[in-house]
Amino acid sequence: MKHLVNQQWTVGEHPTKEVGHQHFKYQESSVPQLEAGQILIKSHYLNIAPVMRMYMMKDGGGFSTEKLLSIGDVIHGRGVGEVIDSQHPEYKSGDYVHGQLGWQTYKISSVTQQEKFVKMKRRGVPIHNGLSALGMTGYSAYCGFIHKGLPHEGDVVLVSGAAGGVGSMVVQIAKAIGCSSVLGIAGGPEKCNIVEGLGADATIDYKNDNVAERLDELLPDGYDVFFDNVGGPIFDASLNHLKRGSRVVLCGAISEYAMKEPYIPQNTFKIRRKAASLNGFFVYEHKHQFEEAETNMASWIKDKKLKALVDMDHGFDRMPHALIGLYTGTNIGKRMVKVSEGEDLIY
Ligand SMILES: NC(=O)c1ccc[n+]([C@@H]2O[C@H](COP(=O)([O-])OP(=O)(O)OC[C@H]3O[C@@H](n4cnc5c(N)ncnc54)[C@H](OP(=O)(O)O)[C@@H]3O)[C@@H](O)[C@H]2O)c1
Repeated sequence: MKHLVNQQWTVGEHPTKEVGHQHFKYQESSVPQLEAGQILIKSHYLNIAPVMRMYMMKDGGGFSTEKLLSIGDVIHGRGVGEVIDSQHPEYKSGDYVHGQLGWQTYKISSVTQQEKFVKMKRRGVPIHNGLSALGMTGYSAYCGFIHKGLPHEGDVVLVSGAAGGVGSMVVQIAKAIGCSSVLGIAGGPEKCNIVEGLGADATIDYKNDNVAERLDELLPDGYDVFFDNVGGPIFDASLNHLKRGSRVVLCGAISEYAMKEPYIPQNTFKIRRKAASLNGFFVYEHKHQFEEAETNMASWIKDKKLKALVDMDHGFDRMPHALIGLYTGTNIGKRMVKVSEGEDLIY
C-alpha cells in the first residue's frame, strides 16, 4: 500500500459555550501498516451533528455517551467510508461502512463495539444516505417517531426542527404512514417552504411568527404526536396543545444546548391533565429496530415517498466551519462534509 497521509481535526481547546475556530487544531500523520484483525477505512463523508460540541467539552457536556476527549484527541464523529485494506476476516476491500470514523481522512479500526460500524447493503442509492436516511439520522427519525410516538393513521402530528436532518424525515414518515395532518416548525420562510415541499400541510416560522398564536390557529383540536428536536420555549408552548392520550417524543433540545442554566418549562402540569406521555428517546437503545428502520426507509426512498434532505459541504478543511454554523441554523437538512475527491458514490 502506497504511503498515505492522514489529515485530522483534533480538540485544540475545550469549548465552554459556543464552539469557535479556536477550539480546533489541524494535524497530519502517516497511516501505519495494519495489524491482524484491523481494517483501513478511507473516509468519504463525515457527519456534522449538534452533539459534537458536547464531545469537545471538558466533561463531554455532562451527558455525552462517547469517551471523553482531551486536548489533542481526534474529534468523535460518524462517517461513511470505504474499506481499502483488511486483515479482518469479516471485511474486504470495497466494503462500505458507516460508523465512528472520527474527524479524519483515514481510520485504522479493530472494529470494536464502541465504533458501532454497520456494513452497508447495496441499495442503488447515493452512499451518503449512510449518514442520513439509512444511518443514525434516519434510525433516529424512524425509531423515535414510530416506536416512541406510536402514530396511527389519521393522527395529527407536530414536528419541531422540521428542516433539520431528523425532523425533515419525521415529516415525510408521518405522511408516508397516513397521518392526516403534519405541522412543521422551522426558522425562516425558505426553510418553511422546503418543509412544505416535503409534504407538511402547514408550517410555523418560529423566527418571524408568534408561535403560540400560530399553534392556536393551526391546532384547534391539538395534536396526537409531537416530535420535539428543539426543547426550550417551543416545547413549552406546544404543551398547550396536547390531545388526551397524546405522545411527546423528546428527541433533542438544540435550543437549550448553549444555555447557561437549564430551561424550566411552565406547562408540564398539562401532561397529567391530558393523560399524555412524555417519551424520552435515545437512538442507541433501539439497535434491535435499526434493520426494520433501514428496510422501511429504503423502500420509501425507492417509492419516492422519502428523500434525504442533505446539506453537503465539500473539503476536509471545512469541518470546523460546518459545525460552528450548525448552532445558528445555517443548515437545511442533514449536514455532512464530502471529504474525498470525485463524484457522489452510488452503492
Ligand atoms: N435522542 C437521540 O438519540 C438523538 C439522535 C439524533 C439527534 N438527536 C437530537 O435531535 C435534534 C435534531 O438533530 P438533527 O441531526 O436533525 O440536527 P440538525 O440537522 O442540526 O437540525 C436541527 C434543527 O433545529 C433547528 N434549530 C437550531 N437552533 C434552534 C433554536 N434555537 N430554536 C429552534 N430550532 C432550532 C435548526 O433549524 P432552524 O433554522 O429551523 O432553526 C435545525 O434545522 C438535535 O437536538 C440532536 O441533538 C437526538
